Amino acid sequence: MTADRPHVILRAMTMDDIDEVVEMDRLSFPTPWPARTYRYELLDNDRSMMQVIQPANGSQDIHTRNGLNGWWDRVRGIERIASELAGYSGMWHIGDEAHVSTIAVHPNWRGLKLGELLLWSMVRRAIRNNARLVTLEVRISNDLAQNLYRKYGFEIMGRRNGYYRDNHEDAYMMGVTSLDQSYRDQLVEYGKALALSLKVSDRL
Ligand SMILES: CC(C)(COP(=O)(O)OP(=O)(O)OC[C@H]1O[C@@H](n2cnc3c(N)ncnc32)[C@H](O)[C@@H]1OP(=O)(O)O)[C@@H](O)C(=O)NCCC(=O)NCCS
Repeated sequence: MTADRPHVILRAMTMDDIDEVVEMDRLSFPTPWPARTYRYELLDNDRSMMQVIQPANGSQDIHTRNGLNGWWDRVRGIERIASELAGYSGMWHIGDEAHVSTIAVHPNWRGLKLGELLLWSMVRRAIRNNARLVTLEVRISNDLAQNLYRKYGFEIMGRRNGYYRDNHEDAYMMGVTSLDQSYRDQLVEYGKALALSLKVSDRL
């Protein structure tokens, strides 16, 4: 384990987070959710669970990536300065299905395993809630996110034509349908691997 692992807090989203989450949304998606959608998710949608990642050391904390990535950041003059929040995600529980409604990491914090932490914790919650499958939609051009989902066993289940409003891009429906013991064991291993990269205070 390295001493300089970023220390982050994983916790439920609150109303006070909405302004910052909306800003991260704007930086992450061509058609971001407005604040009223987050208010609905938090106050009125019983099936929704929204979570955020907060850097534990606030704006004091500056993180650099290791190796080639870190070298490339320095060449480009990128400083990874902590923002108040580093990422967020949401999931809906509908019957025996858990559906990932959104997931994003602040651009300053990408490539540091935070997206994986968000997905890992949502899948863990889906299993705890006895979900039979976990599903999501992803742009067919979003290879990076698809890599993350494949790592967690998601497979393409179908394609929705013209799903996205901004450019009418198609979406893949992806899902993981076998949350059996071997999958759970694998999730534990992924959790251990994440702990080598991140110090996580889990407040969920
Ligand atoms: C998708 C997103 C959440 C990933 O978050 P992240 O914190 O940067 O990703 P992580 O560091 O946790 O990486 C996890 C996995 O994602 C994939 N990945 C991440 N960065 C990648 C890159 N530059 N190229 C290819 N795959 C990449 C890899 O599979 C990686 O696993 P590995 O490190 O074992 O190879 C982030 O890029 C993001 O917010 N994008 C904009 C919003 C978005 O597209 N959300 C998905 C909507 S469906």
